[in-house]
Amino acid sequence: MGFPEQRPRRLRRTAAVRRLVAETRLSVDDLVAPLFVKEGIEEPQPIPSMPGVMQHTQESLRKEVRALADLGLPGVILFGVPARKDAVGSGADDADGVVQVALRNLRDEVGDRLVLMADNCLDEYTDHGHCGILTESGDVDNDATLERYASIAVAQAEAGADIVAPSGMMDGQVGAIRAGLDGSGHSGVAILAYAAKYASALYGPFRDAAECAPKFGDRRAYQMDPGNGREALTEVALDVAEGADIIMVKPALAYLDVIAAVRAAVDVPVAAYHVSGEYAMVQAAAVNGWIDGDAVAREHVTAIRRAGADFVLTYFARQLAEQG
Ligand code: PBG
Repeated sequence: MGFPEQRPRRLRRTAAVRRLVAETRLSVDDLVAPLFVKEGIEEPQPIPSMPGVMQHTQESLRKEVRALADLGLPGVILFGVPARKDAVGSGADDADGVVQVALRNLRDEVGDRLVLMADNCLDEYTDHGHCGILTESGDVDNDATLERYASIAVAQAEAGADIVAPSGMMDGQVGAIRAGLDGSGHSGVAILAYAAKYASALYGPFRDAAECAPKFGDRRAYQMDPGNGREALTEVALDVAEGADIIMVKPALAYLDVIAAVRAAVDVPVAAYHVSGEYAMVQAAAVNGWIDGDAVAREHVTAIRRAGADFVLTYFARQLAEQG
């Protein structure tokens, strides 16, 4: 008998030794900030279900993105809230649509210091709130929607997006967007595919921020069933075959197994979206003093990285970057 020879505690003794042997490190380089920009408002509007997050004006967005670039963030992803919505989401691919205007402004503001990504979807722009064009019976018409996504991608590329990020979960969306971009001289614009996006109850606060809750029904006929893990690998394989440059899993914390499986299955970069509900839960507990919000945010995002994500879209990006 005697003491065990392996003593893992030796490597936990001081902060320096812990730092030396850390397996997963969190850096500002791993963080992407999702940002909302709304048409037709004079002042930024706070989002009650997402304390600390705003619907930006074009001007406040410029300021925020400059501050994020100064903090060293590598990228932002933009979501637009248009003043007017219609059945086909015309604002999404209008050259003067809210995101296109923002992309031009931001390129002017930060040049190439920061990667500008644009979410490619229709739900923020349609009056019914679904992610595609509807058939007469109210289903989302997959193939009619693909044409819209390709057109949105071209409009975003023309306005200066480095990366377009299709989030609508239509079959064939990555291939259709790749063809649209290549056919219009934008072969240098990359695709970040929301490949395994689940029909999650954690998107509620985002739907407040982007004003995009579906007016009827839900998204379960296009987003994935939360119980399905293997199916994520099918979705990912299809997206890679169609030309996705980066693959994303969404949400993050309840799907760490999926992130790990996807990381093992592909060689392209893997992203994860730490979504609005995940943010809201931490903030709600933190404002009550029940948890240390900064520490939990860091622990959560570190766990998402440990599971295999190369970078994380998180509403905590600025807070984490400011902590250094
Ligand atoms: C759809 C979209 C959603 C989110 C990102 N893109 C909402 C949805 O699918 O209903 C959610 C992100 C979040 O909750 O932070 N365009």
